[in-house]
Amino acid sequence: MNVELLAPDHERLWSDLHDLARLSEPDSEGWTRRVFSEPYRAARHWVRSRMRDAGLEVSVDPAGNIVGRLPGRHGGAPLVTGSHTDTVQGGGRFDGIVGVLGGIEVARRLRETGTRLDHDLLVVDFLGEESNPYSGSCLGSQAATGVLTAENLDRVDAAGNRLGDVATAFGLDPDGMLTPTWATRPLHGYLELHIEQGPTLEQRGIGIGIVTAIVGIERFLATFVGRSDHAGTRRMDDRRDALVAAARTVLTVEREGCAAPGDAVATCGDLRVEPGAENVVPGRTRLAAEFRSEDQVWLSGVRRRIVEEIARESAENGVEVLIDWTVDNPVVPTNPSVQNLTSAAADELGLSWMAMPSGAGHDAAHLAARCPAGMIFVPSRDGRSHCPEEWTDSDQIATGVHLLAAGLARMDQEATVDNDFGPTGEETGSLLTGTTAER
Ligand code: GLV
Ligand code: MN
Ligand code: MN
Repeated sequence: MNVELLAPDHERLWSDLHDLARLSEPDSEGWTRRVFSEPYRAARHWVRSRMRDAGLEVSVDPAGNIVGRLPGRHGGAPLVTGSHTDTVQGGGRFDGIVGVLGGIEVARRLRETGTRLDHDLLVVDFLGEESNPYSGSCLGSQAATGVLTAENLDRVDAAGNRLGDVATAFGLDPDGMLTPTWATRPLHGYLELHIEQGPTLEQRGIGIGIVTAIVGIERFLATFVGRSDHAGTRRMDDRRDALVAAARTVLTVEREGCAAPGDAVATCGDLRVEPGAENVVPGRTRLAAEFRSEDQVWLSGVRRRIVEEIARESAENGVEVLIDWTVDNPVVPTNPSVQNLTSAAADELGLSWMAMPSGAGHDAAHLAARCPAGMIFVPSRDGRSHCPEEWTDSDQIATGVHLLAAGLARMDQEATVDNDFGPTGEETGSLLTGTTAER
């Protein structure tokens, strides 16, 4: 196969990116398209019609993922690519989106050049990859691979809305989300294109990252319960200030991150104060925090340590604390054969590349439990991401999409991609069975 032919159409790709960017919250900073929002619904309509225009057979699987299928010569276990189109609040135009639009462009180029893969190619827009207000993330890839639980669906946001109910209102079927559609069927392999979201590629002047592992993530939600009081009359030595206890936790989390080995990081990203007035001693606070590292031993250690530290410090302020661990994602290595096939494809295209870990979480981490999975990174300007300034040049994206096509073509040609933990057995049906009622 002549992979040069599969080079993407830059202008078409760039104009898709701008069309999708327009489907964002009009009154928010940057580009905001949170899961289950109206702009997200509109974007999913747009993605489906783009997939149809590309000649893909489109459906929504029981997990709520949009799946576009390009039939292969022999069918069987499909080859999968994709990412997500939801964003963080005040996010950018590239995170996740490049992988979905890139997958659609690969399918278009395959059809336009009359190139037929042996395996079916599935291009997937996974439901709600970003962190959501229900203490979760990667909803679609977790649901499809059987990791999402009924307990996850029972989680509520700060206003008390239950995830399962919000999914129903969006037109999805929560029972379907608990059906591990992709867990029981063999997948030939998964390759995801994404922006790096950090500065390494740009700083080194390298165009492509071949991802070796995806960081482990531990998240908790801490509820501090103190006592509300009059801020003018309650003496300083007689307070049970829930915000002071939470503030100490913010510093403790930061201290752990700074003292950690390697590139581990620790962040407190959300803090709610009740009742929330300058003349009331805070009676209750809710703090969301996370730790990330490639070092599983450190992650397990900090998880144990932090609970004791927070409890001790809060007790000094007369505050009770309840810690709820909401995310426990282990470090996920990508598949060595997929890394090798993708880096060989980069060599064939004459691209500069380096092997690197991912500090961000991705749908690929969940797919990796089901099939040989890998990722390709393209540079992020100034390493900025999860902010409006997020940027990747159009030629850098096009290079990544070309490599995505070449990497998938190589994976297609492997009889089986070596995998120690992938599924075995007969394929029992189509991934496309069972569609949801999403409007
Ligand atoms: C997703 O972008 C994450 O890493 O949180
Ligand atoms: Mn992403
Ligand atoms: Mn993201």
